[in-house]
Amino acid sequence: MVPTADETCLRAARIVSRLLRAKPEAALALPTGSTPRAIYAELVRQHRDEGLSFARATAFNLDEYVGIRPDHPGGFRRALQEALYRHVDLPDAQAHAPDGQAADLADACARYEAAIVAAGGLDLALLGLGIDGHIAFNEPTSSFGSRTRLKTLTDETRAANRPMFAGLAVSGAGAEPVPHHALTVGIATILSARRCLLVAFGAAKASAVAKMVEGPLAALVPASALQLHPHATVIVDEAAAEGLALRSYYDAVAASKPAWQRDD
Ligand code: GLP
Repeated sequence: MVPTADETCLRAARIVSRLLRAKPEAALALPTGSTPRAIYAELVRQHRDEGLSFARATAFNLDEYVGIRPDHPGGFRRALQEALYRHVDLPDAQAHAPDGQAADLADACARYEAAIVAAGGLDLALLGLGIDGHIAFNEPTSSFGSRTRLKTLTDETRAANRPMFAGLAVSGAGAEPVPHHALTVGIATILSARRCLLVAFGAAKASAVAKMVEGPLAALVPASALQLHPHATVIVDEAAAEGLALRSYYDAVAASKPAWQRDD
């Protein structure tokens, strides 16, 4: 736990950049949403000012809406392009996203899993957290054994993502522009990453954080699957940590971490 949202993002960016410096060919799974914005801004700054390179890295977007064109302003491919890719030296061919426009979506999902394997597997899955406990677009009741596949989005998730589609209605008055479906890496795909790094800040995330960290393993709280991961790091601010029963223990663990375990 760290005091502020800004600090959660700085810590997370430091973990990503340390990985890239130690393993320049690392494969990263990357989220969209408001949470990672400052993380990407810091990585862009480190690229500009400190020579951080993505030239040999591979990036896999965690998810994408079904049926929107790749450059759609509300889409996740575009969001990551704008927030990170176009500001760093990641070659276009090494920036992957699920193909939500594919004629055969099941095949597109299988190809995405194969591309992750071909890249050597994910070294790091960077994750945000939905207020209902979802990770990527693995909505509540997603299987812990799931791989990249089609998911139907909940009304809550579509409402949360509506601002990104504001003013973008394309199919006439009264049309609802937020898609109902997305392709998302699965929970098993995320758990297969060598490391998972989840960032959450703000009071709206406190309940999901508590359920993720201290609640029972439950398909209803997809992020609780991270309890099964051998190397999962959760970085939260004070507000998001509010519901944690063992908060003072986590602070003690962080304060007394041996130097060799520190990487943030
Ligand atoms: C979306 C994304 C997730 C993201 C979540 C939280 O549903 N598919 O990857 O973690 O929203 O978004 P935010 O960071 O804006 O709270």
